[in-house]
Amino acid sequence: MKILEINDLKKLAQRRVPKMFFDYADSGSYSESTYRANEADFNNIKLRQRVAVDMSNRSLKSTMIGQEVAMPVAIAPTGSAGMYHADGEILAAQAAEEFGVPYTLSTMSICSLEDVAAATKKPLWFQLYVMKDRDFNKRLIERAKAAGCSALVLTLDLQILAQRHKDLRNGLKAPPEINLSTFWQFATRPSWCFEMLQTKHHQFGNIYGHIKDVTDLASLHDWAGKQFDETLSWQDVEWIKEQWGGPLILKGILDPEDAQIAVKTGADALIVSNHGGRQLDGAPSTISMLPSIMNAVQGDIEVHLDGGVRTGIDVLRARAMGAQGVYIGRPYLYGLGAMGKEGVSKALEILSSELDTTMALCGERDINDVGTQNMMK
Ligand code: FNR
Repeated sequence: MKILEINDLKKLAQRRVPKMFFDYADSGSYSESTYRANEADFNNIKLRQRVAVDMSNRSLKSTMIGQEVAMPVAIAPTGSAGMYHADGEILAAQAAEEFGVPYTLSTMSICSLEDVAAATKKPLWFQLYVMKDRDFNKRLIERAKAAGCSALVLTLDLQILAQRHKDLRNGLKAPPEINLSTFWQFATRPSWCFEMLQTKHHQFGNIYGHIKDVTDLASLHDWAGKQFDETLSWQDVEWIKEQWGGPLILKGILDPEDAQIAVKTGADALIVSNHGGRQLDGAPSTISMLPSIMNAVQGDIEVHLDGGVRTGIDVLRARAMGAQGVYIGRPYLYGLGAMGKEGVSKALEILSSELDTTMALCGERDINDVGTQNMMK
């Protein structure tokens, strides 16, 4: 099969990854309307075609929170990536490092912070979920510092978990439970099973072994399920900022009023995000909210965006509308599931090549010059 676009990686991943894990990524909450809108709404944004402009010597190099990036795309934090492919977080972080884009490791990763940092040379970004156990948060922040992470991405849109029907129907668990109803999901994916048997990374690596009462898998699930903190407030953001003391990115801002509060925290950037359509079903798409958020913050904070980016054309659209960078969740997971590290590299190459061509056809040579002038009014 010729791999020409992200959708090809998705098809390949579906053939290689057991159904419960493929569906875990390819799903949104409840009716999935926000998940679908994230992708669909990008197509409403039309670009200006320019001709007879010198398009030679192009560059996609830019910065996100002042750190150099080969293109303005980062890997989004995604929990359980190590179930999409054995050692998934390590492989994806290595691919991102080789390409020159940031890799954000999730609190809910399978490979631990220390394992991923040991397998890479450049600093990782670390995503933090605020847990009820503040002492655990404090220690996790210390571990992120010790691992040399160069940004903390604080997720604010998951104080409570919205339901994804597919996960419940598929009996999703990490590590998976093999029983009568799940047996075929694994029996039909032998290479995935074989690779999983070769690795020791099968459970939430940042948690297991770091919590006193979590001694086995059943207690790990119990602990994780009950730990997301419903009381999370802007005061906690201040507390985390103090504990961390480094570059801070606030993830999950979708409303202009919240964006203005985010500015006041003094964070380095905010991510316009609805958790990839996995939380508030019925929320607008991220790209549709970008203009009002840009308007609300008036350049007082760097703005990033995630949700529905599937092509380099989408990257250019977000950039033209003011986002300094975007993150990809599912596109990199599809690459990982399809072909491991090589698949993540392929996903990045596809986006980069599409972005480069699109930029040229808009009559621009430097991604840093792309702006509202490249959009149809
Ligand atoms: C996520 N997302 C997420 N976000 C986060 O802050 N911490 C996490 O652990 C996860 N886990 C996670 C798992 C999976 C399978 C998906 C698909 C997403 C949300 C993620 O960071 C990002 O916001 C979306 O994935 C962006 O949308 P796209 O690129 O997937 O459309």
